[in-house]
Amino acid sequence: MKIAILNGSPRIGNTAAMVNAFAEGAKEAGHEVDILHVGKMKISGCLACEYCHSKGEGKCVQKDDMEKVMPAYKEADMIVYASPIYYFAMTAQLSAAIQRMYAIGKPEKATKAALLLSSASPNPFDSAIAAYKATAALSGMENVGIITAAGDENGSEVKMGEIRDFAKAL
Ligand SMILES: Cc1cc2nc3c(=O)[nH]c(=O)nc-3n(C[C@H](O)[C@H](O)[C@H](O)COP(=O)(O)O)c2cc1C
Repeated sequence: MKIAILNGSPRIGNTAAMVNAFAEGAKEAGHEVDILHVGKMKISGCLACEYCHSKGEGKCVQKDDMEKVMPAYKEADMIVYASPIYYFAMTAQLSAAIQRMYAIGKPEKATKAALLLSSASPNPFDSAIAAYKATAALSGMENVGIITAAGDENGSEVKMGEIRDFAKAL
């Protein structure tokens, strides 16, 4: 299947390591993987202008890097959201990319979703996980897995192996 990974981190660090481990496993299993570095993109928040639902016919009035993410929402069979925790939430960049999906309602083909989260402290994940689960359900995607890495788990061989195995089994 075609898997789009939306990496919400603005830097190459712990989240990128999780993304790479996932991509390795998924490719080994024969899946096509597209990594979108959303955290490095310029994506503004939704303006709630409703242009997309009127004259725009599904197109956003804002011309920014969301144009690079939209094809993934349209073509992917599975979407993986990956993010460091910033103040108990996914990054602002990834949140903006998720909220801008409003223009098309939901991904056109994707029926599966997964979440990769990285943090410094032991368990700041609850609110990001709750938002992800509700968004996936609303968007018609089944949650097939959530993997978190906290503190020393980041970059550890055990955690990277867990992620690789998870992706390989998809
Ligand atoms: C602005 C900011 C806010 C953060 N907020 C939290 C937090 O609420 N809880 C936490 O455990 N770690 C927090 N962190 C730490 C990151 O989640 C952690 O270092 C993560 O591994 C970074 O991933 P990255 O290497 O992909 O950037 C924060 C870091 C930054 C820069």
